Amino acid sequence: MTHHNDNQDNDNQAAGWYDKKAAQASQYFELLSAYVHRQDYAEHLMEEVKAWKQQHHRPLLSRLLQVRKEPRPAENFTYLKYLQYNGRLNDYLSRSITYIYMRDLGASPENPAIQQRIQNLTVKIEHLLEQHVNSNHEAANGNLFSFKDLYRWGQKEQIEPVIIWLIEKLKQVRDHIPEGIHKEHAQRKLIKLIAGVVMHALEELGEDVSAEERSRRLGEAIKLGYSYGLTYPFIDDLLDSDVLSPEDNLQYAQMIRHALVTGIVPEPGDWARQHEQLAAFIYRELKSAFEYIQSIQRDETRSAFFEQTYVFFHAQEIDRIKRLDYAAYSNEELYIPIILKSAASRTIVRSVLAADASADYEERTFYFGIYNQLADDFADLYEDLEHQSVTPYTYYLTHRENRPDLINPFELYWAVVHYLIHHLYQGHKQVQEAILSRAISSLHRCRSRLGYDKYKFLMKELEPSHTPFAVLLQQLVRNSNPVQFFDKLLRDQLISSLRSQEEEKAQFRQTMENARQVIQASLPVTLPQEDQAFTADIIAAANYSLQGESKLLRPVIAYVMGVLEYGFAETDLLPLLRSLEYMHTASLIFDDLPSQDNAATRRGRPTLHEVYDSASAELAGVYLIQKAMQEQASLTSFDPSRVQSLMKYSAERAGDMCAGQMKDLSTRGQTLTLEELNAICYYKTGIAFEAALVMPAILAGTPPDVIDSIKKFAYHAGIAFQIQDDVLDTEGHAQTLGKDTQMDRQNGNSTFVTILGVEGARQAMWDHYCSAIEAVEKLKLKTAFFQHFLDYIIHRSH
Ligand code: IPE
Ligand code: IPE
Ligand code: MG
Ligand code: MG
Ligand code: MG
Repeated sequence: MTHHNDNQDNDNQAAGWYDKKAAQASQYFELLSAYVHRQDYAEHLMEEVKAWKQQHHRPLLSRLLQVRKEPRPAENFTYLKYLQYNGRLNDYLSRSITYIYMRDLGASPENPAIQQRIQNLTVKIEHLLEQHVNSNHEAANGNLFSFKDLYRWGQKEQIEPVIIWLIEKLKQVRDHIPEGIHKEHAQRKLIKLIAGVVMHALEELGEDVSAEERSRRLGEAIKLGYSYGLTYPFIDDLLDSDVLSPEDNLQYAQMIRHALVTGIVPEPGDWARQHEQLAAFIYRELKSAFEYIQSIQRDETRSAFFEQTYVFFHAQEIDRIKRLDYAAYSNEELYIPIILKSAASRTIVRSVLAADASADYEERTFYFGIYNQLADDFADLYEDLEHQSVTPYTYYLTHRENRPDLINPFELYWAVVHYLIHHLYQGHKQVQEAILSRAISSLHRCRSRLGYDKYKFLMKELEPSHTPFAVLLQQLVRNSNPVQFFDKLLRDQLISSLRSQEEEKAQFRQTMENARQVIQASLPVTLPQEDQAFTADIIAAANYSLQGESKLLRPVIAYVMGVLEYGFAETDLLPLLRSLEYMHTASLIFDDLPSQDNAATRRGRPTLHEVYDSASAELAGVYLIQKAMQEQASLTSFDPSRVQSLMKYSAERAGDMCAGQMKDLSTRGQTLTLEELNAICYYKTGIAFEAALVMPAILAGTPPDVIDSIKKFAYHAGIAFQIQDDVLDTEGHAQTLGKDTQMDRQNGNSTFVTILGVEGARQAMWDHYCSAIEAVEKLKLKTAFFQHFLDYIIHRSH
């Protein structure tokens, strides 16, 4: 009974939160619709728009001459380069950043301190872009968001553990976004939300904050950003999609509502049964996210946080159930929820930080939200129509014939522009410039997306009733340069980076599988006809080791380098691929011997010396090394002098590996310095990776400076690989690994884990990962295989 009453109280309280905000939204809406009815918004705007036009007007001649030279904004970074070349980049960035400060940070550019910050940030970004655009154009265009850059930033801010945490989370999220939700968009929103919270945190940080405090606050912001950002893919997008059944959707929404109203996350319930794995992940992540956000909240900010989140959620819910074919929604029913949700979605970003909101901030954000929402709805109009989603635009276009009372959303949009410029920011010049440019740029963007005819048709439908204003607007679009705002540009770029990363990843998997098949098939040592009986035993022993579950990484990377990068024929290269795996397998046979690591399992089966005996294992190892040399000597399709250099190089490197292995064993029980450890790992492990890449390069006659870059890559990749091997020895599972774990501890080996601890080892691994990526980028290879190979190396569980 009490339980019931509590629930009732909570529900009533939540309804009160919503009603209070709805009343405020209703006032705002009344004001806006009065502008539209009186048409005075257009009168006022005409003046500003004319002034804007003066400034941005392109003379006819220049339009005719320039039309080919100016890249379309869609070409993203090329466009920035163009602006930079013309000395317009600073202006452009400053306008974009001013806008972002207003929209996302609720900041007022009237404030000189804010102006200063905008200017500083502009210079900083301008500088970054200069580096980015000038350094490597291709990479600049392809890879806006990389874990490497993220981690490097984390190192600068001394928040490596949080960054590693975040990267793991982002990967998990990516793997769990169900079919039916737009994968790249979902990831983009999450990333954007995290960036948004971090931006707020940076704004809150004063100059005099200590480095430790700064790291702590940034780390917290990242976790909070993730915690809140999760709601976009896993609440919003999920409820919007058809992934769950309508009943499950309802149950799931109720669960969320319950959590927001009571502060307690209930048990998942039936909805979770159908999609067990997905639901388990979502439930676990959301629950800990919710609890984390709550744990940060102070008593003073907690209720504001819950209030905003509830209003946001409830407004979304009201919108979600609207149907486009229902003819009787009032203007208020259409607009009030979107005023509320667009405002709340922004204020929450700040309030998860438990920052005290200033009244100004709240107010500005509240009035700004709808501007953006209407711009977005305008841009997505045709998509929304296709999905029969209700937005002010789709609804107006569907019902305007029979509903003369419906407000034209395009007019309302300009009324908002007027309100923002005249009232909220009181005619401030910079604001006016930013908002008008933005609004005109939206029209440009729309025109180039829809094509001229569709755009013209749409404009006819939505034309403001104030004719001079309507005419002026279209003149503006015709006579000004299209400008893609920086955030839109980043958005497009982020989407395309995420998409191409996804494609590259699929390509990587395919290549791995393909190469493995080719190599596996040609690996077993075959019996020479003449002396079958005599050599059969040693060949059987060698094949026993070769046939276990090997990942075949060394021949695989040699394959990629040789076949995909240098264009050698597969069959020509096979002897080299076999030789690499023979040498490596021999090194493992020795490594496992009782005299060395004394391991009982390898590649998912008992070690060779367990099945035979140590002497046989030693001999099979030596036999494989000889076989490897024989294979190398049969690289008959290549220039003999290159094959000769290859063999010389190979013999030297194999000798070095022995030295590495010897040091590894002789330093047992000692505490090594990081430098010593790096050296040992390079010798015992890195060199084999290096050889696998350098040998095809030797065959191709690659110049020494390029070989040096390959070596640099191999050095870092090899050590990263060994670190993960060390981590897996402590944390992995023997079943998956195919070899026993805890061997290093048993043997008293000094490893990255024993010296740095698991967390320290991971950080070292990420640092090598970044250096390896930097090295591979310099190589300008045709494929992105090695970037993904690195990713695989440090995330593998086998
Ligand atoms: C194991 O190498 C030896 C190390 C250098 C750590 P792999 O992990 O590549 O082993 P296989 O070849 O897949 O069995
Ligand atoms: C082996 O290092 C290096 C060689 C290439 C022989 P480890 O001793 O750590 O390799 P695992 O863990 O036994 O595979
Ligand atoms: Mg060893
Ligand atoms: Mg070992
Ligand atoms: Mg090991």
